[in-house]
Amino acid sequence: QDPNEWKVIEAHELAAKFYHYLLSNTKQGERAKHYLRERGMTDRLIDQFMIGYAPEEWDVLSRFLDGRGYPLELMASGGLLSPKSDGSGYVDRFRGRIMFPLWDRDGRAVAFAGRIIDEGQPKYLNSPESMVFTKSRMLYNLHHAKPFVRKSKSAVLFEGFMDVIKAWNAGVKNGVATMGTALTEEHCVSLRRQAEEVILCYDGDDAGQAAVHKSIPLLQSAGLKVLIAILPKGKDPDEYIEEYGPEAFSRLLDDPVSTTKFRLIYSRKSHILLKEEGRKNYLMEAVGIVAELDSSTERELHLKELSREFDVSLEALKQDCHEYRMELQ
Ligand code: CTP
Ligand code: MN
Ligand code: MN
Ligand code: MN
Ligand code: MN
Repeated sequence: QDPNEWKVIEAHELAAKFYHYLLSNTKQGERAKHYLRERGMTDRLIDQFMIGYAPEEWDVLSRFLDGRGYPLELMASGGLLSPKSDGSGYVDRFRGRIMFPLWDRDGRAVAFAGRIIDEGQPKYLNSPESMVFTKSRMLYNLHHAKPFVRKSKSAVLFEGFMDVIKAWNAGVKNGVATMGTALTEEHCVSLRRQAEEVILCYDGDDAGQAAVHKSIPLLQSAGLKVLIAILPKGKDPDEYIEEYGPEAFSRLLDDPVSTTKFRLIYSRKSHILLKEEGRKNYLMEAVGIVAELDSSTERELHLKELSREFDVSLEALKQDCHEYRMELQ
């Protein structure tokens, strides 16, 4: 590996320890620590995930790295520092933020995500892409989760770090998250290397459910079986665990729905079932979704349910389903 890449990784490892120390042992870190506690982060979790604090000052990290002989220009291209606007040197990129180190799959710190304490914009500031960090590849927590994913052949995919960490604490050790970006083909390939199945556990808001809808075909194309854990409206996994506890969360993950079921629920929400036109359109879309199933038993189970609910004969639905299938071929 390129010696500059080593230096940048080494600096991230050091910075992670430095920020962690500042959070755990200094007065400056107290507000951040209090915030984390309020959110249910224990000392053990803070240690396990090396969570830290970057103080408000402009040059805490840059002085620290400079003092240890790290070339600041290289540190800036590695994403830890930013050039001053007048070009006269460098300042810390992360200031006044709670720091989450991001590790590559071998567990080397290669980037950070910094969360603002309480409210404010941007909520998260991430490292820019660099010679050691590519967003479209990063799966947060993969190095911790890998043995658990391999053993169960199953991975749980979350939207955010908080979700991964809280789920970990609730006993769900095979969880990873994308970095707020959409799921990419590279993510899927990397998941497929360790898992046969992925359980999507995204936020229970419209954005989260739309992201599930988009992620399903991508994961399936990579050869992964997909299941979906559906959260109550407006809750994300972290909030769900805080409110209902770890056992309820485990149960939710033990009983995920199929992609067909998810697509039916998703399609249903886009139609007004109180109107005849809406009912009819939903029914046709639903039959189209069911038609994609290879198993005739599974198709029949879904069609029976639709037949009962909408008071349409099973024969009629089967006929339409058959026609859809002819078109699919
Ligand atoms: N994200 C980001 N920048 C933002 C907002 C979100 O990079 N301004 C990414 C983060 O990786 C975040 C994920 O998108 O974890 C999901 O976003 P969101 O649900 O808004 O954040 P939470 O993970 O729920 O964060 P928190 O619980 O701390 O509010
Ligand atoms: Mn510690
Ligand atoms: Mn969200
Ligand atoms: Mn969220
Ligand atoms: Mn959240």
